[in-house]
Amino acid sequence: MPLDIIIGTQWGDEGKGRITDLLAAQANIVARYSGGDNAGHTITIGADVFKLHLIPSGIVHENVVCLIGNGVVMNPAVVLREMDALTARGVDVSPARLKISTNTHLVTPAHIAIDRASERLKGSDAIGTTQRGIGPAYTDKAARSGLRASLLADPEALADAMYDHIAAKNTVLRHLYSAEPLDAEAVAVEYLAYARRLAPHLTDGSLLLHNALRNGDRILAEGAQGTMLDIDHGTYPFVTSSAPTASGALVGLGLGPSVVGRVVGVAKAFSSRVGGGPFATELDGDEAHRLRGSGANPWDEYGTTTGRPRRVGWLDLVVLRYAARINGLTELVLTKLDILSGLPEIPVCVAYRYQGRRLDHLPGDPAILAQCMPVYVNLPGWKTEIGDVRRMRDLPDAAQGYINFVADVVETPVRMVSVGPARSHTVYA
Ligand code: IMP
Ligand code: MG
Repeated sequence: MPLDIIIGTQWGDEGKGRITDLLAAQANIVARYSGGDNAGHTITIGADVFKLHLIPSGIVHENVVCLIGNGVVMNPAVVLREMDALTARGVDVSPARLKISTNTHLVTPAHIAIDRASERLKGSDAIGTTQRGIGPAYTDKAARSGLRASLLADPEALADAMYDHIAAKNTVLRHLYSAEPLDAEAVAVEYLAYARRLAPHLTDGSLLLHNALRNGDRILAEGAQGTMLDIDHGTYPFVTSSAPTASGALVGLGLGPSVVGRVVGVAKAFSSRVGGGPFATELDGDEAHRLRGSGANPWDEYGTTTGRPRRVGWLDLVVLRYAARINGLTELVLTKLDILSGLPEIPVCVAYRYQGRRLDHLPGDPAILAQCMPVYVNLPGWKTEIGDVRRMRDLPDAAQGYINFVADVVETPVRMVSVGPARSHTVYA
C-alpha cells in the first residue's frame, strides 16, 4: 500500500472512523487531511467509548504515527483536550506519535465567534454549521491572513499575530455583526500556553510522508465529512469550507497523485445529513425514526459533534455514482447494513425526476437539485439478523442482492460491509 485514501461518499457520518480503525491496523501512518473539529468519530478503548474530533483515530494503534496535515484547520484547545483524554486512558500522544504540520491553520476564538454571528445573521438561510469556526478559519486561509501552526514555535511572533488577528476581528464582530468583541490580550496569553505544549509536535508533514513512502511505509489518509459537503463538488452553499474528496487528500497532505493506491469510498446503507441543504431521499415520521434510532445507542443517528438529530433517508445511488466519479473510487465499503434488517422492502434511489424529466446524474445547480424527486427501485428486504455473518456468501440472498445492486449501479466493487457496532462486525468479500 502506498497512500490509501478513505473518503465519505455522502454527507459525512458514513462510519469512516470504523473503517479507518480496521485499515489502520496495517498502516504506519494515519493522516488527517481536511476539515477540523467539525468532524467527530466515536472510538472504543477497552471499556471506554469516547469521541475524537481532530486526532486521527489511528492513535489507538500503538505502532501507528498520526499526522494532522496541512489541509486541516486546528483548534489547539480541542487537540490538547483530546491529548489529555487519551493520555488519561494510557494512550501515548508524545511528539513521536502525534505530529502536526507546520502549514496547518489555527482556529481561534474569533473564528468561532464569527461562525456563530454569521449563522445568526443568515436566519432561515443558515447553513447549520457546527459552529466550530471552520468556515471563518478557511476564509482567512484563502484571504492569506490566516495563522499557521508554525507560529506555535515562535512565541513572540505568535503573541503579535494573535493580538493583531483578534483586534482586526473585533472590528468585524462589532460593526458587521453587532457582537461582543474578544479580549485580544487574554487570547494571546491563552495561545502562548497552547504553543508551549504543541510546539514539539510540529513537523514538515509533506516531507515526513514523502520519506515514509520511500521507506516502503503504508500511509492511510483519513477523510472527514463527505463528498456532498465538498466546497467545490458538494451541494454548495450547504457545504463545509474544505475539500473532503480524494484530491483534497493530496493537497491537504502535500503529495502527488502517483502515490495513491486504494481510494476507499465509505457509504452508509441509507443516507443521513446534518444541517441544511437539499436531500432528495429524505424521510420523516415513522420511517425516519426507524432509520435514525431513538438516540439510546451510540450508533443512532445523532451528531457526534453537535448532538443534533440527523436528517435521514433511503440510499441515493445518484449521489454514490457521483462520489465514485469525483473521487475515482477503487472500492466501496457499505456500513450499517444491519439497520435495514427486518424491512419488507427497501427503496433505493437510482435517478431523479425534475420537471417531468429523468436525470441520471447529479445536477450541478443547487436550485435544480432542491426540486429533484427520487426515482426509486424497491429491493426485497430480509428478515433475519445479520450481525453474526462474516462472509458475503453467508448473508441472506436479499442482503447480497442489495449489495450487488449498489455495486452494479455505482460500477464499483463492494469490498466490506459492516453489520454491527464492533470491530468484529465486519463482512469481507
Ligand atoms: P461547518 O463545517 O461547521 O462549517 O458546517 C457546514 C456543514 O457541514 C453543516 O451542514 C454541517 O452540519 C456539516 N458538517 C461539517 N462537518 C460534518 C461532519 O463531520 N459530519 C457531518 N456533517 C458535517
Ligand atoms: Mg461524524
